[in-house]
Amino acid sequence: MNRLDGKVAFISGAAIGIGAATAAMMARAGAKVVLGDILDEEGEGIAQAIRAEGGEAAFVHLDVSRQAEWEQAIAATTARFGGLDILVNNAGILFGKDVEEARLEDWQKMSSVNQTGTFLGTKIALPALRERGRTSPEGSAIVNLSSVSGLVGSPLDPLYSMTKGGITLFTKATALSFGRQGYRIRVNAVHPGVIETAQGKQTFVARAKKLQSGNLDEARSIALANHPIGRFGTVEDVAKAIIFLASDDAGFITGSSLVVDGGLTAQ
Ligand SMILES: NC(=O)c1ccc[n+]([C@@H]2O[C@H](COP(=O)([O-])OP(=O)(O)OC[C@H]3O[C@@H](n4cnc5c(N)ncnc54)[C@H](O)[C@@H]3O)[C@@H](O)[C@H]2O)c1
Repeated sequence: MNRLDGKVAFISGAAIGIGAATAAMMARAGAKVVLGDILDEEGEGIAQAIRAEGGEAAFVHLDVSRQAEWEQAIAATTARFGGLDILVNNAGILFGKDVEEARLEDWQKMSSVNQTGTFLGTKIALPALRERGRTSPEGSAIVNLSSVSGLVGSPLDPLYSMTKGGITLFTKATALSFGRQGYRIRVNAVHPGVIETAQGKQTFVARAKKLQSGNLDEARSIALANHPIGRFGTVEDVAKAIIFLASDDAGFITGSSLVVDGGLTAQ
């Protein structure tokens, strides 16, 4: 189950956090992985660590908001590993600002990473994914990182909710579009709750700002109480869900939303 033998995967935002864990776990599941990120040193370090474990991995510099960098990154992937079966649109940012506080520049920055990045990744990887989809048993796969904030409103960061809500419906729309055109590319979204990463910590800071006490521990406790399962998520929790959706085990799943949130949105 959940094997990726013979598959080639590209993961954006893979230098740290969920993307780095996904790259490492995908390599252990048998995939050849290419990591793209703006953090060159960290990204190279993860690729090296994967190779040291016996996996096949490469890092490429990628700012997901730049089309030319996507073109170079996908070309480097197909040149190195002969094709592309899986795209994970993972790179994403959050500022934790409400509408009064956020400036136009914040919105432009966030939408350029979260939404333009997802659009460009899908667009530029499409020909290679279509090509491999023709012969792959269950087709190629795109997994987009949305969020619980792409399903329900986040008062901590309405702009983030807007970008992630867009990704939720872009996922469904592209799944329909590719399916109807016979492209054999499945497209699904993962919706994490609070995950213990740099970005997860930013949500505690944003929540603390809204408390009278301004206390980070109190903010953490409130966030924890929102997760009925009694803990925050780990990067591995999310990576496993991504790998399932990317694998042939999810061959009949497209246009779906896999919620990985410890019950947060079940309430
Ligand atoms: N951590 C959470 O609680 C949580 C919850 C729901 C959804 N998510 C989503 O999961 C994804 C990964 O989040 P994370 O927690 O691992 O975040 P993170 O901050 O730990 O890592 C994000 C990665 O994206 C990279 N990145 C940022 N801007 C980029 C750009 N322009 N081009 C390329 N790479 C860029 C960063 O360098 C970093 O490596 C994001 O899309 C995030 O919105 C996270």
